[in-house]
This record gives sequence, structure tokens and C-alpha cells, in this order.
Amino acid sequence: MSTTQPLALPIAYLDGRFVSVEDARISPFDRGFIFGDGVYEVIPYYGGRGLRACEHLERLQRSLDLLDMPNPHTVAQWEALITDLVAKNGGGDQAVYMQVTRGVAKRDFAPPKGLTPTVFLRSNPLPRPTKAMYDKGLNCVTLDDFRWGRCQVKSTALLGAVLLKHEATQMGADDCVLFRDGYLTESSASNVAAVKNGVILCPPKDNFILPGITYDLMIELAQRAGMPLEMRKVSRKEVLAADELWLTSSTKEVIAITTLDGKPFGNAAHAGKPGPLFWKMLGLFQDYKQQLQTLAAAAE
Ligand code: PDD
Repeated sequence: MSTTQPLALPIAYLDGRFVSVEDARISPFDRGFIFGDGVYEVIPYYGGRGLRACEHLERLQRSLDLLDMPNPHTVAQWEALITDLVAKNGGGDQAVYMQVTRGVAKRDFAPPKGLTPTVFLRSNPLPRPTKAMYDKGLNCVTLDDFRWGRCQVKSTALLGAVLLKHEATQMGADDCVLFRDGYLTESSASNVAAVKNGVILCPPKDNFILPGITYDLMIELAQRAGMPLEMRKVSRKEVLAADELWLTSSTKEVIAITTLDGKPFGNAAHAGKPGPLFWKMLGLFQDYKQQLQTLAAAAE
């Protein structure tokens, strides 16, 4: 292996066994390798506890259903496997990546029946963003969303996301904000919401975005706190004139976009810096995580 960075935390799970990440091997005839014929999930664990793990497992089921693939495990079995993996890798804060492919078969686009799915789990350390990272925010560029029409599937076929992120980073940005037919969709691996005149504007959860678990949590927290929110199509014009832009994902939580297309972004009062509603949402998010950990500790 020529990479200088560790592949992941040391222990992985592959098809029924916990193995060292360096020893994990799959067949080159796996349809995940040949066609990208598989799905995945990323679940954040804080202090060894999953954040919305059930919701991630429900989305895994929906992705499998949309690909007409069987789910190799029950929710309880998945939970046990993931909990074991996190513990074997030392607990604490980890991002668990789960991949399920349709399995090994002779090359044929039409999927044969009765294949045994390949199941691979591994985890990475999940660093908590620092105050300096939040203050700085993200530098993004706007790009045309050329991905396929089933973005609601969390598919391992990620070439669209790879090329978009590649284009963004080659332009010196951290990531992208995507538009399809003049309307905001999401980012390469995160959801995006805009804020205008105190209202959070959220693109609808249709087939052009991944219905993010963090996005749902953000919406829930906003609604509970009485923050006005509209889920509707958001035009490019509205995004460019927005007061704030946020990005949400399981690994980034919620973070502000402070530079867009090379210019400081947002309302003139705080252009180039995270806006006031971002700080409010971040506080709600951190409180939610803290409450979960307190409840978990009390249950032990
Ligand atoms: N990405 N949109 C896309 C295209 C994504 O790939 C992701 C997640 C999200 C946010 O979803 P969630 O809040 O459930 O993480 C939105 C993960 C983190 C990844 O691929 O690594």
C-alpha cells in the first residue's frame, strides 16, 4: 500500500469478521467495484454513542429498496455490529462508514438474483471542529449540478461528487454549492440551506438531493426553537442575495459558507463571516449533542 496516511482506524468489519483494515480484501468481481452497484451510510458517533443511528439505518433501507437489493441485516444486527466496531476502535468520536454492495457476480449489467451482498464497515476519527474553524467558515464555488436523477439514493457510485469536489478544490475552494436548472440542490457531500430576512430556506427533499440526517435535525431544531423556515425550491438569485448560507452533514455538522465564488458572502453587516442565525443554530446543535451524551451517561 503506497499511501502514507492511515486508511482508517485499525479495525474493520468485512462479511462476518472483524479484521485489520490492512487485511480487508474483496473480490475484483464485486459489483461494487465493477459498477458502483452498492449503497453506503456514514454515522457519527460521539463519546461512543451514535447520533441518529436509527435514522441512518432507515435511510440505508430506503437506498437498498430503491436499488432492489436485500438488506443483509436487521436494525438490531446492524446496531450490534457498529457498536462493536466503535468499541474495538477505542470508542470516543468516530465516523462509521458502512458499505453494502450487491456482491460478486459474472459481469452483466442486469443484476442476477440471489447474490450475497458484500458488507464492509470501518471508521475514522471524527475531529470536533474548533471555534477558529467555525469563525473561518467555508470557501465554496457555485457549480452546475450534472449528477443523475436519483440523488436520494446514497450510492457508492460517487463519480459525480468526486468530479465536482475535484473541480472546486482545483479552483482553490473547499467545496461547491450546486444548482440544477437555476435552483439550489446541495453540495458534493452535504446539504445546503440559505437564510434571508430571518427565514431559513431549505431545498425540498426530492430526487435531486440526498435527504440528509443532519439536514433533518437542523430543520427539527429550528422548528423547535421557533425559527422561521420554508422548505421550497430556492433560486440561484435568492442564494446569491442570501444573508447566510449553511452546509450540513454528519461529518461537518453545521458550518457557514463565508466565501462564495471568491467573494466574501452574506449580509453586508457580517459579509465573509458566519451570520447570527448560524451561531444560534450551532448552539442548538451543540446543546442537542450535549443532552444526548448526558442521557447516555445517566443510562449507564
Ligand atoms: N455525505 N448530500 C450528499 C450528497 C451527501 O453525500 C451527504 C453525506 C449529505 C448529508 O447527509 P447526512 O447529514 O446524512 O450526513 C448530503 C457523507 C458525510 C459522506 O459521503 O461522507
